[in-house]
Amino acid sequence: MREIETRQPKKDWRFILIAIVAGLGGLLFGYDTGVVAGVLLFLNQVFHFDASMKGLFVAIALAAAAVGAAFAGALADAFGRRTVLIVAAVLFSAGAILASVAWTIPLLFLGRVMVGAAIGVSSMITPLYLSEITAAHWRGAIVTINQFYITVGIFVSYLVDYMLSGVTDGWRWMLAIGAIPGFILLGGMMILPESPRWLAGRDLIEKAAAGLRFLRGRQDVSEELGDLRRDVVEGSHRAAPWSLLLKRKVRKPLIVGIGLAVFQQITGINVVIYFAPTIFQDAGLSSASASILATVGIGAVNVIMTSVAMRLLDTAGRRKMLLFGLYGMLVSLIFIGTGFMIQLHGALTYIIVGMVAIFVAFFAIGLGPIFWLMISEIFPLAIRGRAMSIATVANWVSNMVISGIFLDLLLMIGRGPTFIFYASMTVLAILFTLWIVPETKGKTLEQIEDSL
Ligand code: GLC
Repeated sequence: MREIETRQPKKDWRFILIAIVAGLGGLLFGYDTGVVAGVLLFLNQVFHFDASMKGLFVAIALAAAAVGAAFAGALADAFGRRTVLIVAAVLFSAGAILASVAWTIPLLFLGRVMVGAAIGVSSMITPLYLSEITAAHWRGAIVTINQFYITVGIFVSYLVDYMLSGVTDGWRWMLAIGAIPGFILLGGMMILPESPRWLAGRDLIEKAAAGLRFLRGRQDVSEELGDLRRDVVEGSHRAAPWSLLLKRKVRKPLIVGIGLAVFQQITGINVVIYFAPTIFQDAGLSSASASILATVGIGAVNVIMTSVAMRLLDTAGRRKMLLFGLYGMLVSLIFIGTGFMIQLHGALTYIIVGMVAIFVAFFAIGLGPIFWLMISEIFPLAIRGRAMSIATVANWVSNMVISGIFLDLLLMIGRGPTFIFYASMTVLAILFTLWIVPETKGKTLEQIEDSL
C-alpha cells in the first residue's frame, strides 16, 4: 500500500465510514454479478430455461454493463459523479426488485438490464469518485480496495445463495436482497457531497470548499483547495482530443490496457464466478446446496487472496505477480480440464473443487486486481479517462461473450476441452505479458508515462 497522506490522520474513522458508503458500488458490482450462481440453479424450474436461455440471462446484464460503462464517463463529466452514482443506486435497487418479482421472462430480463447498466456505470464511477474525494497519496490504494469490495460482494452473494437455496422461491429473495445495499448507497450519496475536483473544474469553488470541509471534517481546507485548483488548471491544459488515442505514444499503453481487459475475461474467471455451482454439480457434487456451499468456499478464497494481493502489490511488483498468478491459473486449468476428461468419481470430485479454488486464488493474486490497477496507471493524463473507459468496455464485452456462450460450449465440445481452451488462452496471456506489460511498481504516474 502507498504511504499515507500526511495531512490525513492515520485512522480517520469519519473518512473511512464515508469511503465505505461511497464504495458500495463495488460491493453491488460483486453481489449482483455473483448472485446469478445460485439463481441459475432455480431458473429452469420456474421458466424452463435451457442452456442458451441461461447464458442469455447472464449475458444480458453484462451487455448492459458494457453500455453503462461506455457512457458513464461522459455522463459523470456532464452531470457530476454524485448525480450519476445516485442514478446508479436507483437502477440497482429498482432493477433488483423488478427482477425478483418478475412473473414473465421479459420482466426478469428488464430487471437484469437495469442492474447491469448500474454495474457498468459503477465499475467506472465508483473508483473515480472514491479517488477524487480521497487525499492525494491514498489514491492508489483506493483502486485495490475497490477490487476487494467486489470480491466481498461476490462472497456475500454466495452466502445469501446458500442460506436461501432450500427456501421456496429462494431465487427471488437472492435477487431482491441486492436492493438493500442499493438503498444504503442511495441514502449515502444524498448526504455525501459532489466530488470537489469536479466542482473545482466547473469553477464552483465555494461548493468545492464546502465539500472538502465535509469530507475532511474540519474548517480549514484552503491548502487542499489550492492544490485542487492548480491540478484542475493543469489538467484542463493537458486535456486532449480523441485523435490522441491514435498517436504512437498512446498505442502501447492502449494495447496493454485492452489486452489485459480481454485476457482477464477469456481465461475463464467468470465462468467459475457465475457458474461454479453448475460446474460442481457436473463434477459430481450431489445436491444444489452442497454445490452452493462449495461455492461459498470459492468466494472466501477470492476475498482472502485479494487482500493478500493488496498487501503484496507494492513490494513484489505488479508484473511479477501477474506472471506468477497466470502460471498458477494455467496449471490449475490444465488439471480441471484433464480431470473432467478422465471422468472423476467419488472423492476425486473434490480434486476438481480444490483445483477451481486454486484457480481463483491465482486469479485473485494477479490478473484480478492488477488489470484494474494498471489501467489507472499506464495512460497519459490527458487521455486517462477515455482510455480507461475503452479498456473497461473491452472487459465487459469479453466477459459477456465468454460467460454467454459457456453453457453452450459445454454442450458442444464438452467440459474438459472447454477448460483446456481457457488454459490455452492463459498461455497467450503469459506471452502477452512477457512481451509488452511494463513494471509500474514504485514509479510515479509520470515516470510510467515516460517509460512506455
Ligand atoms: C475482477 C473482474 C470481474 C470478476 C472479479 C472476480 O473484478 O473484473 O469480472 O468477477 O474480478 O473476483
